[in-house]
Amino acid sequence: MFENLNVSTDGVNQLSLVGAVAIFAITIYVAGKYIRQIKNDTSSGELTDENWDGIGEYKNSLPLGWAVSFVATMIWGAWYWLAGYPLNAFSQIGQYNEEVSTYNATFESKWTNPDQDTLMGMGEGVYLVQCASCHGIAGDGIEGKAAGFDKWGTAAGVLETIEKGSKGLGYPMGEMPGGMASGDDAKAIAAYVAGGMTGEKPASFAACASCHGEDGKGLGGQAPDLSTYGTTAFVADVLNRGKTGTIGTMPKFNDGRLTDIQKEAVGHYILSLGEK
Ligand code: HEC
Ligand code: HEC
Repeated sequence: MFENLNVSTDGVNQLSLVGAVAIFAITIYVAGKYIRQIKNDTSSGELTDENWDGIGEYKNSLPLGWAVSFVATMIWGAWYWLAGYPLNAFSQIGQYNEEVSTYNATFESKWTNPDQDTLMGMGEGVYLVQCASCHGIAGDGIEGKAAGFDKWGTAAGVLETIEKGSKGLGYPMGEMPGGMASGDDAKAIAAYVAGGMTGEKPASFAACASCHGEDGKGLGGQAPDLSTYGTTAFVADVLNRGKTGTIGTMPKFNDGRLTDIQKEAVGHYILSLGEK
């Protein structure tokens, strides 16, 4: 039962043990003293003015020993918290965090260059656990409760964004208003953006350039980088930012729950949902 209690080498343990024995001894002594005093009390002295139903109180000054031990207890308490056990000790949470980060590092190094099948499998696994509850197992967004991946990330998704606007990613530029382009102009822009902005730039892209930049790269972080729209990099950006938009709230995944490679994998997976 006590095999882990290594009293001989552990200074703090020794001190605690000595303290416990001392407190026990002092308690016995003091209790005994007062019991004797109550039994044959012959006290006399000056009483305070107040008395309650004839019961008065002596004017005694604070016993020095009591005051000293009171202050000493506070000092010891502060030392114990800051330098003794609680803040320095073994902690289960600390151990958990350490184990998770070791595991994640091994995981990342094992999968530095995963092939397509691995990415897809990993992405599906992450998706089913972390995303499907809101986005639906098929990625349909469960009747409008979350973004549907049949459209998002594709030209149809850009068209929808142009029509309705977008908000909630928390870029310095703020909200994107809807209706910045329409008709064939909007279609041409959508095809250009969804195609990775590599083809010929439609003149109507000027409607977007004021915020997203001539090159669509978001003016150095003011607005999203459209050249990555519909790629795993854009998904990773959404995961890091979260999104409280017109549909609802998408939580942030920037707390270490997912490693970078898992973010890439899940991006890979949801983009495959749009291709069907
Ligand atoms: C007034 C500035 C502004 C203009 C003009 C603008 N955008 Fe945006 N756009 C933004 C901002 C800001 C965001 C990020 C909004 C958010 O928080 O969701 C954004 C987001 C987007 C997104 C990402 C949406 C998503 O689902 O993640 C796409 C795609 C996009 N814009 C395309 C366009 C296109 C195409 C045009 C031109 C027709 C355009 N934008 C015009 C500011 C603008
Ligand atoms: C708690 C519910 C919830 C969970 C869990 C969730 N999402 Fe979302 N997600 C949303 C909602 C709601 C939106 C739509 C936000 C809006 O535009 O109003 C959204 C939007 C998105 C978008 C589109 C963002 C854009 O720019 O328009 C992507 C991509 C996305 N989620 C990916 C994921 C991935 C990947 C996961 C799992 C790692 C995930 N989501 C987990 C609720 C969720």
